[in-house]
Amino acid sequence: MKLIQVSDLHFVPPGTRLFGIDPRARLAAAVQDINARHADAELCLFTGDLTDQGAPESYRALREVLSELRLPYRLLVGNHDDRGNFAAVFPEAPRDENGYVQSIVPTSAGDLILLDTHEPGSEAGFYCAPRQAWLRERLGDSSGRPVYLFMHHPPFDIGIPSLDRIRLLEPEGLSAAIEGADVRHIFFGHVHRPVSGSWRGIPYSALRSTVHQVPLDFGDKRSMPYSFEPPAYNVILICDDLTVVHHHDYMNREIVTPGTERYSAAE
Ligand SMILES: [Fe+2]
Repeated sequence: MKLIQVSDLHFVPPGTRLFGIDPRARLAAAVQDINARHADAELCLFTGDLTDQGAPESYRALREVLSELRLPYRLLVGNHDDRGNFAAVFPEAPRDENGYVQSIVPTSAGDLILLDTHEPGSEAGFYCAPRQAWLRERLGDSSGRPVYLFMHHPPFDIGIPSLDRIRLLEPEGLSAAIEGADVRHIFFGHVHRPVSGSWRGIPYSALRSTVHQVPLDFGDKRSMPYSFEPPAYNVILICDDLTVVHHHDYMNREIVTPGTERYSAAE
């Protein structure tokens, strides 16, 4: 099974830019690349911060770009989103009984469970008791099947203080909810960086934004620094007991073949 993960699109109202970058053009390029290379993927998952300020016109612009995507997709919300404005523009997006943008996608390889960690007014994430109860029920339904979690905020520190301050707070509830479940991997966004490892024995990975990035800086910055490393999306391959995550810099179209003039000149 092939999945695509794209994250932190940070759409802004039409005609405006973010740090000099046009988020719409960045996503359009990703969609074009995904259509050309991965139209065989089962699903494309967008792991939050769909917009930068949650404006309705930003969601409408996003919807226009996504209409070009040739594979099914699911959207998650992040701290920069507005749940109400999101739902108004994407009314078909599944939500739980409390309105949280949470859903489950059964696949041939197991169940993908998409979590909503957004807490209005907070850059950090939160996973409250009603959301935990929903997750417990889903995991009960998934009993015996592998589970893959998708969420915006990581529920742990990654060693970069500016990001660790705004991770998922009070992760104990989430941790207790997934205790004993066959969680094979956690895929998240939010950090605007490629990072991987394991948390309590569960492998995880994250990826760059399609817009601005967060530099690798372990200094204790009070403000959030940004960088202009290239945008990327991830290609996820899952087969039986194997999960592979490829990080793809989709704007880098320069490929050098050994023996060509370009390659010789570089030597
Ligand atoms: Fe973000």
